[in-house]
Amino acid sequence: MANTPDIEKVKKDITSYPLDSDQAIESFRLTYLSRKGIITELLAGIGKAAPEDRAWLGKELNALKKLAASRFEEAKAAQASDTASRVAATDDSTLPPPPLPTGSAHPLSQTLAEIKNIFYRLGFTIADGPELEDDFHNFTALNFPPEHPARDMQDTFFIRKDEQDSSHNLVLRTHTSPVQIRLMMNQKPPFRAIMPGRVYRNESITAKSYCLFHQVEGLYVDINVSLADLKHTLITFAGHLFGKELKYRIRPSFFPFTEPSLEMDIWWETGNRPGQWMEILGAGMVHPNVLKAVDIDPEIWTGFAFGMGVERITMSRYEIDDIRLLYDNDIRFLTQFP
Ligand code: DAH
Repeated sequence: MANTPDIEKVKKDITSYPLDSDQAIESFRLTYLSRKGIITELLAGIGKAAPEDRAWLGKELNALKKLAASRFEEAKAAQASDTASRVAATDDSTLPPPPLPTGSAHPLSQTLAEIKNIFYRLGFTIADGPELEDDFHNFTALNFPPEHPARDMQDTFFIRKDEQDSSHNLVLRTHTSPVQIRLMMNQKPPFRAIMPGRVYRNESITAKSYCLFHQVEGLYVDINVSLADLKHTLITFAGHLFGKELKYRIRPSFFPFTEPSLEMDIWWETGNRPGQWMEILGAGMVHPNVLKAVDIDPEIWTGFAFGMGVERITMSRYEIDDIRLLYDNDIRFLTQFP
């Protein structure tokens, strides 16, 4: 058996040959399967083997050839499908681009847009003012008496607090009503404007209250404006926002800057929850002291004002039971409002 080739070694080499590239596959083919390859050479050598060895040698070499051929075919197929998928994955500049994932307006922005839209149709313009306010605009001009407990109605974030002279105080505005003052000081009556914006209150954070929220203030000042005008405006507004079937009630209330003052509730039924009254806004006839504070003659001009909470309205429209969801920016929440 001196001349019999080391079939086991060739077999091992075939099985372990790395076939990881087109070049490797081609050199494998040349080494083992081509006309000048090892196996062809070995087969040609059968004739020189001892006659009693020729049969088994032929069988072994044919098995070897089959093994090499099947490794070759397999590697080629794998390489081809790999190439195909790489081609599919590369950019084809002639294809339209895949759609970009788009965001959507925050539910608060959606509610605010609708509120603005309704008042726009009722002839109101939009005004705004700073979130950092002084004591005069946030309290004094709005007829909050100095050191009066009415100021405690609103838990204030003080940016600057002067214990001797509260007129030096700077606060994060606790409501949008100071924008009424700015509007009336900067322009001449009549006024018909809404004033949306952020407000801040130093309250503990719960499912129902947050340290900041949004209000929409409204102001209508003209000659002979009456409580009936206020009622009509509010009912028209609520009808547009909540639908024609609206059930509402108007209750007397108190605010330093209006007299008389009122609050409006709507009857709110959602899903399987029992219906309930929900307060959506405060309002009233602008107090003569407020008009005097901004140099407008209350004997000539009268007006009404109102203020509503955007979070409250949004939460009822979308059945959101925790105000904090509106501020977490959790994408799983936000994508529910396309
Ligand atoms: N500023 C009030 C608040 O934050 C809301 C309000 C009530 C505004 C009555 C008004 C109004 O303009 O007339 O609670």
